[in-house]
Amino acid sequence: MNFQPLAQRFARLTTDIVVRRPRLWFLLRRATRFQFDRLAPQWDAIRASETAYAPYEAALERVEPPPKRALDLGTGTGGAAFVIARRFPEAEVVGADLAERMIECARENLTEELRRQVRFEVADAAKLPYGEAAFDLVGLSNMIPFFDELDRVLSPGGFLIVAFSGGAETPIYVPPERLRAELGRRGFADFAEFSTNPGTALLARKAERA
Ligand SMILES: C[S@@+](CC[C@H](N)C(=O)[O-])C[C@H]1O[C@@H](n2cnc3c(N)ncnc32)[C@H](O)[C@@H]1O
Repeated sequence: MNFQPLAQRFARLTTDIVVRRPRLWFLLRRATRFQFDRLAPQWDAIRASETAYAPYEAALERVEPPPKRALDLGTGTGGAAFVIARRFPEAEVVGADLAERMIECARENLTEELRRQVRFEVADAAKLPYGEAAFDLVGLSNMIPFFDELDRVLSPGGFLIVAFSGGAETPIYVPPERLRAELGRRGFADFAEFSTNPGTALLARKAERA
């Protein structure tokens, strides 16, 4: 039996529920982690497309000044964390994910060249083990946004990227209007949208401290 369509429907449903009611995450966390732990060994093959990180990269091109500390949240096997590290060789990069097996695979994917710059950690985006303003760039590739935590761990003037490899067809997807509304309410501005067909991304900047 092919569980993939079922898993994709579950991912879409989970995203819709959590974006509306983040407090309900505790009901969905275990099943989400189980599902991605199960997918981890195949994840690189699932994501093996040249365009997988195209929208993320398009948004990164507009991040200026270069970040010193960057977080790739829901990193999976680490692909987008490596994209950040190569684009900004001076940045310290953390890739974090709920699923332990994803993090194991990400660590296996670390090349010697990036070992000093990138590290991977198990963490839940709903309650991150990082201090306030810990990062000046946070990126999400096909990942559910937990807006209050994103706001908390980003420094004033820091950048946020929310990218979807397959645009609106991505199982984990949040429309740009919704992203802008949630982020605007928290003082984010300077929104820019990117389309790399089929990928889409939104770049936003957290307000500087008054
Ligand atoms: C669709 S995959 C995307 C992986 C990777 N960013 C990519 O684009 O290939 C979503 C990832 O987010 C992780 N994830 C889901 N909810 C999470 C949470 N609350 N905190 C941290 N990671 C989470 C999953 O374990 C999974 O690895």
